[in-house]
Amino acid sequence: MLERIQETASFLKEKMHTRPETAIILGTGLGSLADEITDKYEIPYEQIPYFPVSTVEGHKGKLIFGKLGQKDIMAMQGRFHYYEGYTMQQVTFPVRVMRELGIKTLFVSNAAGGMHPDFEIGDLMIITDHINFFPEHPLHGKNIPYGPRFPDMSEAYDRDLIRKADAIAAGRGIKVQHGVYVGTQGPTFETPAEYRMYRILGGDAVGMSTVPEVIVANHCGIRVFGISVITDLGVEGKIVEVSHEEVQKAADAAQPKMAEIMRELINQA
Ligand code: HPA
Repeated sequence: MLERIQETASFLKEKMHTRPETAIILGTGLGSLADEITDKYEIPYEQIPYFPVSTVEGHKGKLIFGKLGQKDIMAMQGRFHYYEGYTMQQVTFPVRVMRELGIKTLFVSNAAGGMHPDFEIGDLMIITDHINFFPEHPLHGKNIPYGPRFPDMSEAYDRDLIRKADAIAAGRGIKVQHGVYVGTQGPTFETPAEYRMYRILGGDAVGMSTVPEVIVANHCGIRVFGISVITDLGVEGKIVEVSHEEVQKAADAAQPKMAEIMRELINQA
């Protein structure tokens, strides 16, 4: 495993024209940020040794190196979801490669179903914490010596970055919520009883990604900032039929707000 990560990292280092310390996973709701990256070098996942290939509609698979504003960054356009059939090692492989490349801070976004009764479709939720509901743990197995066997998770989402994001949002009049993201395997959306259960357990939003990458980033010593765009509601009395298309549509509508916060935060980080 470690050899593969290092081989992929060496392959990329030879091609990279910058040495970024910031990475972004352009999940749902943040795809357009890719268009703002300048001095780009792009490399499709299928050309990267050991990289899985993304299959979901709306997720193009490539790594982008370049500048966002003044900042050198590395961006993943398209992520790997557990429900696609990848192992947790595959889902989180790119984060470990980031560690080898010298990444210090990771920004992630996703689409999620809102369970907090005050949430509305189109809200942005800064992720303050998560609950791992995946059936397999990304650190299951032999410990990779990027971090301890039993990693601390008391501040999985960096508090300083959350404070900065709050200040940016307040300064620009962008409403943000805060909350706990529940990560589930999918690919089904939740039944009303499941939304109720996740709410009772302490979740404010639920989605099918992010938690594996955030766990591995924490293990590697990479600090994390994450935002969810609330694309549908798992709130009793407000639950209606939900489809991937509607999720995509709500995420696209919230995209400019999300991009504004991320762009500024990345430049401050
Ligand atoms: N549940 C799980 N994943 C999701 C949802 C949801 O309601 N909305 C967007 N991704």
